[in-house]
Amino acid sequence: MDEARPHRAAEDSLAALLTEHALGYLHSAALRTAARLGVADHLTAGPRTAEELASLTGVSAPHLRRALRLLATRGVFAEDATGAFRLTPAASLLRSDGPSSLRTAVVMLTDETFWKPAERLEDTVRAGHTVFEEIFGAPFFEHLARIPQAGEDFDTGMAGLSTSEDDAIAAAWAFPERGTVVDIGGGCGGLLRRALVRNPGLHGVLYDREQVLRDHTLDEPELAGRWQACPGDFFASVPSGAEVYLMKRILHDWDDEGCLRILRACRAAMTTGSRLLVVDAVLPQGNEPHPGKILDVLMMTSLDGRERSAQEFHRLLSAAGLRLTRILPTASTLSVVEAVVEAKSA
Ligand SMILES: C[S@@+](CC[C@H](N)C(=O)[O-])C[C@H]1O[C@@H](n2cnc3c(N)ncnc32)[C@H](O)[C@@H]1O
Repeated sequence: MDEARPHRAAEDSLAALLTEHALGYLHSAALRTAARLGVADHLTAGPRTAEELASLTGVSAPHLRRALRLLATRGVFAEDATGAFRLTPAASLLRSDGPSSLRTAVVMLTDETFWKPAERLEDTVRAGHTVFEEIFGAPFFEHLARIPQAGEDFDTGMAGLSTSEDDAIAAAWAFPERGTVVDIGGGCGGLLRRALVRNPGLHGVLYDREQVLRDHTLDEPELAGRWQACPGDFFASVPSGAEVYLMKRILHDWDDEGCLRILRACRAAMTTGSRLLVVDAVLPQGNEPHPGKILDVLMMTSLDGRERSAQEFHRLLSAAGLRLTRILPTASTLSVVEAVVEAKSA
């Protein structure tokens, strides 16, 4: 008998589960619809019916109701017996206001820049590389630079995602009391801001592409005179001589060859006392779920990037003349991989 074959009753429920998995893209579509329409914002003052929500958002009430009913099966919104929808804790994160809003992140993650290549996963698996350029006519970051709306949606989405994890990351590692922190590919500056607020003796450099720096969020009286925004290309060079280099959600965008170029540029900028903090998911062994495993497939389809295990980080850093010193978990899904310049390096 085939041992992997379940008994009849179990097979029925597994068939239902597999069908649910096969249709999982409809959950993404419904979530995107609710986020784009701002449904959660309209429920802040209290429950509303689909008719009320539809008239506020200018859409079809019966169709909106069915999309929200699907979301309610997973705890995003809840419908009561009178047909009114209310916020749940998960739906509250879709509100535009509030420090932990994930609305822009949901819009980014379900945007065509990720969605269309995901639909072509089979082609990626067959070809052994992303088909992003085939779809959009340019690699990922070039596409964002060419299409201003796509670039803006990505930057605000990343900033939204970052808000939910920056504090946990800034708290997980003991920054020095004085010195300079360079955030390489720091986006709009959310993590750098948290690091500077927590450590008043530090100076910060936000390093990213020029068009991204225009939307930075460091202009706060509390941080006046303690930071600078520096445009540049991290494949070419990185500001030198800082005590701390941050790289959050950067290496996962690139294949090993791309990472080595970034890491070598970083190593050239570091002194023997510098610390590099690579902040990414660190994939566990085995079959258990981990948020990094789904992001890994996202990185593969849109960017030729990947999430990595501790061993893979160790090998990569070592090939760039850096030594992994420790890995610290954080209260977010990301870990801090700390590295220093290897004394007898390549
Ligand atoms: C996935 S985002 C991460 C942003 C930020 N670190 C965060 O965690 O929210 C990748 C960042 O790398 C930047 N980037 C991409 N290519 C770059 C390059 N060649 N030089 C400098 N920055 C670059 C992008 O503009 C973007 O802000």
